[in-house]
Amino acid sequence: MPGVKGPSDYSREPARHPCLQINAKQPFNAEPPRSALVSSYVTPVDLFYKRNHGPIPVVDDLERYSVSIRGLIDNPTELFMREIKMLPKYNVTATLQCAGNRRTAMSKVKTVKGVGWGVSAIGNGVWGGAKLADVLELIGISKLTSTTKSGGKHVEFVSVDKCKEENGGPYKASIPISQATNPEADVLLAYEMNGEPLNRDHGYPLRVVVPGVIGARSVKWLDCINILAEESQGFFMQKDYKMFPPSVNWDNINWSSRRPQMDFPVQSVICSLEDVTAIKPGKVKVSGYAASGGGRGIERVDVSVDGGKTWVEASRYQKPGVQYVSDAMNSDKWAWVLFDVTVDVSQSTEIVAKAVDSAANVQPENVQEIWNLRGILNTSWHRVQVRVGHSNM
Ligand code: MTE
Repeated sequence: MPGVKGPSDYSREPARHPCLQINAKQPFNAEPPRSALVSSYVTPVDLFYKRNHGPIPVVDDLERYSVSIRGLIDNPTELFMREIKMLPKYNVTATLQCAGNRRTAMSKVKTVKGVGWGVSAIGNGVWGGAKLADVLELIGISKLTSTTKSGGKHVEFVSVDKCKEENGGPYKASIPISQATNPEADVLLAYEMNGEPLNRDHGYPLRVVVPGVIGARSVKWLDCINILAEESQGFFMQKDYKMFPPSVNWDNINWSSRRPQMDFPVQSVICSLEDVTAIKPGKVKVSGYAASGGGRGIERVDVSVDGGKTWVEASRYQKPGVQYVSDAMNSDKWAWVLFDVTVDVSQSTEIVAKAVDSAANVQPENVQEIWNLRGILNTSWHRVQVRVGHSNM
């Protein structure tokens, strides 16, 4: 429907918080200061990282906005916003993390391709919307389907925005239909973020949220859903967001040799200290976030004040007043945990954090071993330097 949803140009970008660090202006990519991430369990919308591959589209007529559902189904359907809102509404607290989080640190080992990101391409939101499993059931695909009668195995999300990687076509990604039709996987068509209607930067009026999976699969500004036999052939599924070994370079890369990345691995980052911080000797509070993909909880966060020789355990928390136990019923399984510990520092040193998830996966010690040419999934131990001074600081 022309005029109802249309890609914009860069002259119609929304206003943004002045403290965001802008990593690219067009398309707009920005992250908050790391200290903002530990100020609250739920990240405020204006301080949530913004990751875009094209101009922010304008959708200006919600009454006429619809999502088309096509592909390997008997009855292609147009689903209007009011129909989506008539389905039961769920609020899912889930952390979105860009696969490129901490890319800048990886590029210090050897150049990588992609927008540079510090440690804040991550945020924790409360997403409100309909479960994709309920939406698909409406059009005749039952819950817990792994293949439809017509051979559909994947659900592709196609957006309104247009990007150069797709030669001016829309941003696309897909997930297996078994995940899409599993109510426990909590995949949402979200129209709210933190209790407010989504804003334009985050996908107004409707986006997909795939909890526990790299942010690239949570398609914003949803235009159409396709039921496919194979995974999406879109650029971001086939020629990007794949993890290659350190030996692969731009001359010998074979994109089809690797699967698209889905779950993100265990991660933790210190947010109370910058890469280098000058302090006085004495007590230092070390706080940050830890998260793992696939719904795995955080079993432990270890902090070292001697570069990784000895460790102390940090305390972990999510919601105020609720003790966090990984994988317990009343913890938010798709959400990060915040951690803190107070340590004594008497001399200049390296402070390190590493997390262990509920499957006992641990972050790798060094970034060198996980270097990859696209600079994704830098989950190496997070290290910051403190310089202790004894003068008036
Ligand atoms: N969806 C569309 N339509 N266009 C995009 O550029 N970027 C993806 C994903 N969905 C993107 C998209 C990537 S790489 C990430 S990490 C998340 O959106 C970021 O979501 P956010 O900007 O709401 O934080």
